[in-house]
Amino acid sequence: MRQEPSAATFFNGFADTFDTIYDEKRNAFMRWVDCTFRSDMFIRYTLTFDALDNIRGQSIVDIGCGSGPYITEALKRGASLVTGIDPAPNMLTLGRLRVRNSGFADERCILVEDKFPGAPVTPHDHAIVMGVMDYVEDAASFLTALKPVVRRSAVISFPSKHWFRTPFRRVRYRLRRCPVYFYTESDIERLCKAAGFRSVEVRKIPGAGMDYHVCVKP
Ligand SMILES: C[S@@+](CC[C@H](N)C(=O)[O-])C[C@H]1O[C@@H](n2cnc3c(N)ncnc32)[C@H](O)[C@@H]1O
Repeated sequence: MRQEPSAATFFNGFADTFDTIYDEKRNAFMRWVDCTFRSDMFIRYTLTFDALDNIRGQSIVDIGCGSGPYITEALKRGASLVTGIDPAPNMLTLGRLRVRNSGFADERCILVEDKFPGAPVTPHDHAIVMGVMDYVEDAASFLTALKPVVRRSAVISFPSKHWFRTPFRRVRYRLRRCPVYFYTESDIERLCKAAGFRSVEVRKIPGAGMDYHVCVKP
């Protein structure tokens, strides 16, 4: 459990900067960096809502919700309830603001300051786990705890391994005291099946070091 407190600490301090990646609030150079090196963040957003399809009237849990971009989109698409879980309080403050600024009533959205596994979570129709497995030391326990929370499907991103980008990112995050973890397609298949998911669809976002976007069903 070493990594979650440090991931939480890192993201708590990084919350404002992270939030500017969405909504194109950054300067021209950083927008170029985001487009070039972080394009998978935007692609996985589109793939997630394509995979979830019609969520009107359904409940969603967004684990590692950050500043809440998936929460507001799920509310826009008519989700009956969205639960966001994140251990970084500054991320949740931004998430709460985003929900209010988008004009949604607080009663359709619950934000929980905690890590997963750990936070008590009731079953939801769908789970969103985007940009989180990067920071999870024990992916097997995380996915095993996720299975009973999911009634219909879960969409999960996993960072891929790349000969150049992976060691570079590892060092960058070590300096930030936030360890990162990487996966192969066979790791993902094995971990999801071992956790009890019946259907596992793995899709690699094209490009060096880009994420895997995975849709699992119980
Ligand atoms: C890269 S951000 C992604 C935020 C959001 N899902 C998105 O894609 O915009 C990762 C988030 O995961 C959270 N996180 C890290 N480990 C976690 C854990 N074990 N349980 C829940 N959240 C976690 C961090 O605090 C951070 O806000």
